[in-house]
Amino acid sequence: MSDILQVNFGNIIFKNPVIAASGTFSLDYGQHFDLSQLGGICSKGLTLYPRAGNRGMRIWETASGIINSVGLENKGIDLFNKEDLPVLKELKDSGVRLIVNISGSTIVEYLDTISLLWEEGVDMIELNISCPNVKEGGIYFGMTSSAARELVKEVRGITRLPLVIKLSPNADDIVKIAQCCEEEGADGLSLVNTFKAMAIDIDRRKPIFDNIYAGLSGPAIKPMALRMVHEVCQKVKIPVMGMGGICNGRDALEFIMAGATCIQVGTANFINPGTCPQIIAELEEFLRLEGIKSLEEIRGII
Ligand SMILES: Cc1cc2nc3c(=O)[nH]c(=O)nc-3n(C[C@H](O)[C@H](O)[C@H](O)COP(=O)(O)O)c2cc1C
Repeated sequence: MSDILQVNFGNIIFKNPVIAASGTFSLDYGQHFDLSQLGGICSKGLTLYPRAGNRGMRIWETASGIINSVGLENKGIDLFNKEDLPVLKELKDSGVRLIVNISGSTIVEYLDTISLLWEEGVDMIELNISCPNVKEGGIYFGMTSSAARELVKEVRGITRLPLVIKLSPNADDIVKIAQCCEEEGADGLSLVNTFKAMAIDIDRRKPIFDNIYAGLSGPAIKPMALRMVHEVCQKVKIPVMGMGGICNGRDALEFIMAGATCIQVGTANFINPGTCPQIIAELEEFLRLEGIKSLEEIRGII
């Protein structure tokens, strides 16, 4: 494969900008395509201890996306180090970048999880700040710039790994939060996470989800996610990974023209497990047909 799609994300070179998004991808996708084609893989959100996740309904299909209430089910950082990292690292030989997504309910939990991560072979940390801060009574770190600032500052102080902060679209002012993350030393940003949503079972007169609200993703959110990526890219200098409803090469190009350096693909993997390699092929075809030599030429042109 040629390097026409190569991108530089804050001094980390990705062979192409297509990354499998956190929580929507596993190595099982290797049954459908050669995973070494990917620009990168982002792990499931990891916490200090294993989490069983939420009870009740977890995924609900809507007209143009899904609402999920998985509740960060994961095996915890220890088992991830021992079981998953060795396998993921094998992919690194073929140049696939490895991003580890970290979540937590207190600053100390984030810090402890990151200090336990076996950093060797990991290319960057994606800090999911859309988690309820139990110390602050369940307010999300990603909702206010002061909470986001404090968390990023502390995490920056304990790791030299490139740090990408994953922003929530549910914040009052996502641009302000993005700027605070940049000021506190983040190397990049990724956006967006899921939008707060709900569904109701009218026969039972009950919400579909035990927690009432859950997160909407997929094509339904694309125009809003795109707008947020565009707004944030106007205001920060650090590179951005754009995501939200990307299903094909044209969607990916919209995010790149809005200013994203890399793009992540989530829900579309559930619709068609071959979406990522298809997007890579479509991007390459677009550049060749248009006589564009690198994505740099069209990034942020809007
Ligand atoms: C089932 C599911 C699980 C997810 N788990 C995580 C997670 O653990 N950590 C995280 O940062 N984002 C998680 N996300 C959010 C996605 O990574 C992505 O930000 C979001 O779905 C928007 O992209 P999309 O519309 O392409 O799916 C999850 C999304 C889904 C649908």
